[in-house]
Order: sequence, then C-alpha cells, then structure tokens
Amino acid sequence: MILRPPAKINFTLDVGLPRTDGYHDIDSIFVAVDLRDELEIELGEGPVLPEDDLVMGALRLLDLTQAWTVRLTKNIPSQAGLGGGSSDAAAALIAGSHLLGRSRDILPDLALQLGSDVPFFLTGGAARCQGRGEQITSLPDLPETWFCLGKPDVGVATPEAFELLDAKPDRIPGSTTPQLLDILPDLQFSNDFLPFIFTRYPAVARTARLLMSAGANAILLCGSGSAVAGLCNNQGHAEGLAQAVANAGLWSAPVRTLKRSEWP
Ligand code: C5P
Repeated sequence: MILRPPAKINFTLDVGLPRTDGYHDIDSIFVAVDLRDELEIELGEGPVLPEDDLVMGALRLLDLTQAWTVRLTKNIPSQAGLGGGSSDAAAALIAGSHLLGRSRDILPDLALQLGSDVPFFLTGGAARCQGRGEQITSLPDLPETWFCLGKPDVGVATPEAFELLDAKPDRIPGSTTPQLLDILPDLQFSNDFLPFIFTRYPAVARTARLLMSAGANAILLCGSGSAVAGLCNNQGHAEGLAQAVANAGLWSAPVRTLKRSEWP
C-alpha cells in the first residue's frame, strides 16, 4: 500500500505557558499542503526503516509481532516545522491499520502517543488544533492558495524552540487564533515562535526577507521553523519565488493548500 503523506503549514500558532507536564497548550490553524513524502507499507519481512523512525514506532503500536516491509521517499525536509515525520507516522497508522483489518477508531490515541502533531495528519485539510495539538476542529476547505516554502540549511529542534519561549517567563502568550478564524478565508498570519526563532536563527530571518524581496505578499513561519512560507498570488508566482530562493542556494518548493478530500 502506497500513501503520499503531506506537509503542513501554520496560519497561526499561539503557544501557552508551560503546563505541569512540560507540554504547552497551543491554539493553531494547521493547513495541509501538497509537498508529499511517499510511504510504502506491506505486510511481511522486507526492508524497514531505522527502529527509532516514527513510522516504525507507529507500526509497533499497531502490532508488536507483525513483520513489515517499509520504504520511505522523503521530500519534506526534517526540522523544518513542516510536520513531515508526524505525517509519515500518521500515514503508517492509516496503512498499517488497513492492512491488519483494524478499526480507524483507535488511531487518534495512538497518534498522540507518537507526537503532538500526528493527530492532525489523520484529519488533514485545514483544522484548528488545541491542547497539545490533539484537540482538532476541522475547518471548511479554504480556497486553493499558493505559497513558496523556503528553508535555510539550519534545522530547529522543537523542544529547543519551546525552551526559547520559556526562557522569557514574562512572555504573554498570543491569542490571535480565534480572531483570525473569524476572518477566514481572508488570510492573516501570526506565530508566537517567530521573534524567538528569527533572533536565535538569523538564517531563518534572512530566508523570510529573501521571500519578501522576491515578491511574497506576506510571510509565515512553519511551526517552530526553520522553514518559512511566502504567500503568493497563484502557481506561477509561487514557482517564480521558488526559483529565486533556489538561486540563492536554499531549499525551496512551490506548494498549494490541500482540500480535505486530498488527504488522508
Ligand atoms: O509531542 P512531541 O514529541 O512532538 O513534542 C516534542 C517536544 O516539544 C516535547 O517534548 C515538548 O518539549 C515540546 N512540545 C510542547 N508542547 C506541545 C508540543 C510539543 O512543549 N504542545
């Protein structure tokens, strides 16, 4: 069975103060985009991924004794805030449960055991994600919107990004998500990580400036970075920006938002 798990971007990302369990409540608009990995999963002995890959963790959660064949082609860069590893893990849950003839009802609980962003990728489309990320409210499909993704060579580890926020105890958590939900499908972006990540990783700020100077209409930070996305008018605009970013020696990709019917 072959699935093509997509990346996501965040139109908003409000981050609360640390909870007693160390996690942070978030309030975020997640939107799946058509940059996709390719994951092949079959029952029976064959090549697999390293044991510490989230895909293998997902398959172990489904069945500890089953032998699997797993092939993964990565197109979504890691440590970019694009959710690639989480999306692959959700795809493994979907494919594995299908092959084992198991109900999908068990998947949300398993997904959260794998990571805070994994439940969203069982849902896809556009969604408001709260709690650790597992409280999901599906949103109506947005009009197709094009972005250009750009990523510097640096990657951002998610735990470190949250630590940057916690190092400023007088920080006031953002609360823009409910307001920006009200104006959808008009687009405004906000992300509590942005000032912290731009300061700690100047290459991310430079990538954002590059996208703006190449003609992006607005910028958003993907998750806690290091990828940024520039809002574009259409596919041609996004492709032109991707070429400009690539010419500067950075990874880039033109992407469009996905409808719910396009994943999972
Ligand atoms: O859930 P996941 O394993 O992806 O989270 C990685 C790390 O990111 C956590 O260990 C935690 O430090 C941080 N995190 C958080 N609050 C969230 C999601 C992640 O503090 N809502």
